[in-house]
Amino acid sequence: MKALEIRNKFLKYFEKHGHKIIPSSPLIPENDPSVLFTTAGMQPLVPYLLGEKHPEGTRITDYQKCLRTNDIDEVGDNRHLTYFEMLGNWSLGDYFKEESIAMSFEFLTKELEIPAEKISVTCFAGDENAPRDQITAECWKKAGIPEERIYYYGKEDNWWIAGEEGPCGPDTEMFYDTGKPACGPNCGPSCDCGKYIEIWNNVFMEYYKSKDGTYSKLKQHNVDTGLGLERMAMLLQGKETPFDIELFEPIMKKLEEISKRDIIESRRIVAEHLRASMMVIADGGRPSNIDRGYVLRKLIRRMVRHMNKMQIDLSELEELIDLNIDTLKEMYPELINNKDTIKQVIIEEKDKFIKTLSHGEKEFEKAINKAKQENKKIIDGQTIFKLYETYGFPPEITADLAKEQGFEIDNSEFERLFKEHQNKSRMGSEQKFKGGLAEQNEKTIAYHTATHLLHKALQLVLGEHAKQKGSNITTERLRFDFSHPEKMTKEQIQEVEDIVNEQIKRDLPVTCEEMTLEEAKESGATGLFESKYGEKVKVYTIGDFSKEICGGPHVSHTGELGHFKIKKEESSSAGVRRIKAVLE
Ligand code: ALA
Repeated sequence: MKALEIRNKFLKYFEKHGHKIIPSSPLIPENDPSVLFTTAGMQPLVPYLLGEKHPEGTRITDYQKCLRTNDIDEVGDNRHLTYFEMLGNWSLGDYFKEESIAMSFEFLTKELEIPAEKISVTCFAGDENAPRDQITAECWKKAGIPEERIYYYGKEDNWWIAGEEGPCGPDTEMFYDTGKPACGPNCGPSCDCGKYIEIWNNVFMEYYKSKDGTYSKLKQHNVDTGLGLERMAMLLQGKETPFDIELFEPIMKKLEEISKRDIIESRRIVAEHLRASMMVIADGGRPSNIDRGYVLRKLIRRMVRHMNKMQIDLSELEELIDLNIDTLKEMYPELINNKDTIKQVIIEEKDKFIKTLSHGEKEFEKAINKAKQENKKIIDGQTIFKLYETYGFPPEITADLAKEQGFEIDNSEFERLFKEHQNKSRMGSEQKFKGGLAEQNEKTIAYHTATHLLHKALQLVLGEHAKQKGSNITTERLRFDFSHPEKMTKEQIQEVEDIVNEQIKRDLPVTCEEMTLEEAKESGATGLFESKYGEKVKVYTIGDFSKEICGGPHVSHTGELGHFKIKKEESSSAGVRRIKAVLE
């Protein structure tokens, strides 16, 4: 049975049992900055689980697009996905355990025709916060599951909450027994040897966990269920991994065809991350260096890296996107509507990443060779730090590369160095300030660095033509003139502000090098090239974000800047705009 057919059967079944079908919410939660992505079907329904009246009534069913990134590094094995679809049905103060279990059992055995003897279930064993869930076990027996296939586990397995705080409760999980031999005397549904595969989770939400860790009873009893679509399709199609079902098959095949070095893990990573990225972009996500944007960036970057590893020409990306849209369009029409944007965003991000990669990978190879010569099996923190600081090479990629070559990384040492460096630089800039740089003080130095960030951000948002025409800094504000033919839109101003604030949040190191003007141009530095040929200039580099010829001085880390806000955007002269901005 194909995934779409399973989805439709599910929705119809619950509709027949009085549920209203509602559309999937976007992957990027609406009005909820506290979470990065929708990770479960219940998330958009939280107000209703807490007692607010849902306009569609007390029985709801839907399919929900979900993204979970805590296991992103596991993708590549035979089961992990970041993006997946969750089918769900909800009782908002309506039915509870018995009816919920009876419906799940009927759907699995009658609609999907899974033999009842293949199903095992788990229930909450009880602890100081809530009693053993005997009622659920009784409901299962009544439905037709014998005692020996009912297992009891504690909170880590049979209690569900999204995050740290919120509606929660004991759950009961359904498992499919693949028939593989048990891995040992303690093998059971909670074991991940592969014998049992979780197929559905019904949460009986009757508690609320507060920030302080205490539990209270909710006003109403709810049921929240989640069935992983890809996994169910895999089982019903008799496949070994989700990458073998029809949603992944075409792209997996294509990747095999076009790779010069076929590596199954890499193929899975590319297929998975491409689909996930496309879904995120279709719902409005864009790559950046913080939060959601960073997750998307990471997905695209890992995908590109594994394409490289398989020696796939990166110009194939466009075709891969087309192929994926073709495969997924019936399930997700939003992919067709956003086709051009999806391509543009992914390809631009790929181009950006290639630049960073080529530098960093070379340096990484050197480091690995050195470690090999020294008979070490670990990449030290100093090396990871240097790769990050000098080449903007993401530490998670260093970790990935190291793992592939059988090396460990000293992450704690990296973090220690990172913090130490931050502190030192901060102290350094304070000292400099105390030393009394003529006409410079902490404020104007900060505005100076902010000006570099602004310059780059303007070019990213408006285009390369947005070049510096003038700058004036006081302790109160910066003023920046740049070439641009028209008034900036509100959105563009917001975007520029956001980009600058992102770079501040990243706490990028600001470094200075001296070189000849020619070398500076070579290195891609922007700036007013007014020095004479051969003359030495200073080039200030802000992380991987900006590189500009400039006399300085600057802060040592962008984190020192605070919050950047554009106060005014106006005309300065013909073809030149002026921005006034402050650091708050
Ligand atoms: N909210 C439950 C889950 O995600 C159903 O497993």
